[in-house]
Amino acid sequence: MEVFSEKRDIIATLDTYKAKQQTIGFVPTMGALHQGHLALVEKATQNNDVVVVSIFVNPTQFNNPDDLKKYPRTLEKDISLLATLSKDLLIYAPTVEDIYEGKTASESFDFDGLEFEMEGKFRQGHFDGVGTVVKRFFDIIKPNNAYFGEKDFQQLQIIKKLVKKQHIPVNVIGCKIHRETNGLAMSSRNTRLKPEFIKEAPFIYKTLKTAKMYFGTKSANWVTSWVEKQFANHQLLKLEYFIIADVDTLKLLKRKSKNKKYRGFIAVYADDVRLIDNIALN
Ligand code: PAJ
Repeated sequence: MEVFSEKRDIIATLDTYKAKQQTIGFVPTMGALHQGHLALVEKATQNNDVVVVSIFVNPTQFNNPDDLKKYPRTLEKDISLLATLSKDLLIYAPTVEDIYEGKTASESFDFDGLEFEMEGKFRQGHFDGVGTVVKRFFDIIKPNNAYFGEKDFQQLQIIKKLVKKQHIPVNVIGCKIHRETNGLAMSSRNTRLKPEFIKEAPFIYKTLKTAKMYFGTKSANWVTSWVEKQFANHQLLKLEYFIIADVDTLKLLKRKSKNKKYRGFIAVYADDVRLIDNIALN
């Protein structure tokens, strides 16, 4: 297990693998690792000769400075967790300077409109920040395969668009959402939930599952209103949005079409902690 904080060192090490034609898997993270992250790392280790996990809380993707400040940072614990999976991982935990070289700013991207939906509406500039950092990581690591969770489904679709539009030679692989046994989607932000909110947060997935059941027979509008009503009646959780969208365009579903796939996407505030989740509806 090697931990790198500077790109020139990890580049030199990766060159030795590339010289032997070995495949490189890459799992970008912001740390505070949980089982959802580890599942991505496991999948990567099964399908590549060497795996790089990056741990970097990327400042340019936070639209809310308070959220950035409070984002959990647990590097030592993350390294120990990763060591339980494999001793051969390469961990890249750079400084802001190593990635941004004195200019901590985002590039602007055109993701064919994917960036204007859902999270893009509520977190201005977020996907420019994600695109900027992921592109830099791809450039440094040059992975064959990169792994992203469906937990951040919009992010996954945006990264697929990024590599397609910029002709970056990497396979982007989506991985299923990992949940607690009570259904709550695992998230680094869950560690900030106060006890009464930990108790209530599984309501989010429970509602998504019932919405999926209704989607079989009811219209998208009906299902959306039903979800909104569940949260209007909820004492603690505040709904920011629930949207049923086409998985490819992420555009709001108006009329169901047989050959299309749809998902329900949700963002909820549990006190000051913002939680997102989604579910395949058909
Ligand atoms: P982070 O939130 O740390 O997530 C890292 C990766 O783990 C993402 O691909 C995310 O979708 C995945 N992930 C998180 N929770 C998951 C869960 N419960 N089940 C499955 N996968 C899960 O997403 C980011 O970091 C950043 O935006 C990043 C891509 C690293 C760029 O800064």
